[in-house]
Amino acid sequence: MRLDVYFTPLGLTAGDLAGRGVVVIDVLRATTTIVAALASGARGVVPAASSEEAVKMTANLEKDGFVLAGERKYLPIPGFTLGNSPREMTPDQVSGKTVYLSTTNGTPALVAAQGADPVLVGAAVNFGAVGERAAGLLRDRGDLVIICAGREKQIALEDAYTAGRIVRTARKGLRKVVLNDSADVALGLAQRYSSWVDAFTASDAGRALQALGMEQDVQFCAGVDKYDLVPTYSDRLIT
Ligand code: MLT
Repeated sequence: MRLDVYFTPLGLTAGDLAGRGVVVIDVLRATTTIVAALASGARGVVPAASSEEAVKMTANLEKDGFVLAGERKYLPIPGFTLGNSPREMTPDQVSGKTVYLSTTNGTPALVAAQGADPVLVGAAVNFGAVGERAAGLLRDRGDLVIICAGREKQIALEDAYTAGRIVRTARKGLRKVVLNDSADVALGLAQRYSSWVDAFTASDAGRALQALGMEQDVQFCAGVDKYDLVPTYSDRLIT
């Protein structure tokens, strides 16, 4: 059995992921935002590789059927209706609509995971549910990949911590699971912090969000098991 963690999607090709089950994590904040949007009744979320792509994809759509959302440097993109805060994904904003989301690291990581099957969206807010699915994939297929979005082309502590928690859950009770080095390091991080919020607030992204007055988003993203759903990405749509 094999469990691989990638701290960034950089360099991964469709060939690396073909036929493998993947969990994508950008816990601060894109994957948390996606889970929250679907929990609030969004019809689906389309991750865009760039803000230009999001605008292009919606150019000919009925205006009341979609909402544009996303961030650059954590702040809402000019002209977009919503930013990338999970707290903005309320039923009155997204229910019955498709959310076209463009973020700096999270949505490109999802786009990079295309070709894997299934592609699951993981966060702390759906940790129990995604951990169970990850464990099932590892047990049934003998293989699992966790892709962290990372930050500025590097490891992001909050994603790596979350990956470590999933590694710990997924391999529980299984014998002879071979971890790659990143999975081993992630497992160590999961042991190092005593709580989700400790890990998230210690991270560069957590500190940046706090400095911008978005402390409540960090708290929201650390709210473990708020939701019991596992979004799946297939054919460019997350449902
Ligand atoms: C990203 O995609 O880099 C993040 O989700 C940034 C953010 O917190 O908005």
